[in-house]
Amino acid sequence: MESKNVVVVQILDKKFEIFINSDEIQKKIESLAREINQEFNGQEVIFVAVLNGAFMFASDLMKCIDLKSEITFVKMSSYKGMESSGKVEELIGLKNNLRNKNIVIIEDIVDSGITMDKIIDLVQDQEPKQVKICTLLFKPDAFKGVNHPHYIGFSIPNAFVVGYGLDYDEKGRNLDAIYQIKE
Ligand code: IMP
Ligand code: MG
Repeated sequence: MESKNVVVVQILDKKFEIFINSDEIQKKIESLAREINQEFNGQEVIFVAVLNGAFMFASDLMKCIDLKSEITFVKMSSYKGMESSGKVEELIGLKNNLRNKNIVIIEDIVDSGITMDKIIDLVQDQEPKQVKICTLLFKPDAFKGVNHPHYIGFSIPNAFVVGYGLDYDEKGRNLDAIYQIKE
């Protein structure tokens, strides 16, 4: 069992070192929520959280949202281990009717942007009023998508990270901080 904010963690065959601690994450989430609360002041928002990775971020973010809101979940998959397969599969679809609604998509990380482009296509099919993307992490150097995130927690270098919902082969999601692969 990993303890809180430890400096180095071993997950399977890899070592990871502390990169963003839990206090920094929580402070950033409060400021992202303030931005969203201000921007949608007086309006209703449907949050669409992307499983599995965004579960922890979505949970902490929603506690700071004071808008009239709903949350729903989609599950996509583009990663096997540490390398993107480049293919994205839809596993769980949208249930709500999003027509004419304000949508904020909650994602743990936007890397190549392929997953987000697919999600946006599905959401746009329902003709919402507007769609915004809120991601905790963004890798600008890896990004080759069409839909750039609107709310970004941290822009990070192009290195593999785990923790706070993000996994390495499904391990490490429970860590309360974000760890970067140790070369
Ligand atoms: P994209 O389609 O390349 O943008 O990848 C998006 C998905 O890949 C994210 O939702 C994550 O689940 C996963 N992913 C991308 N980069 C990382 C990483 O550094 N660590 C863990 N998962 C990642
Ligand atoms: Mg994800």
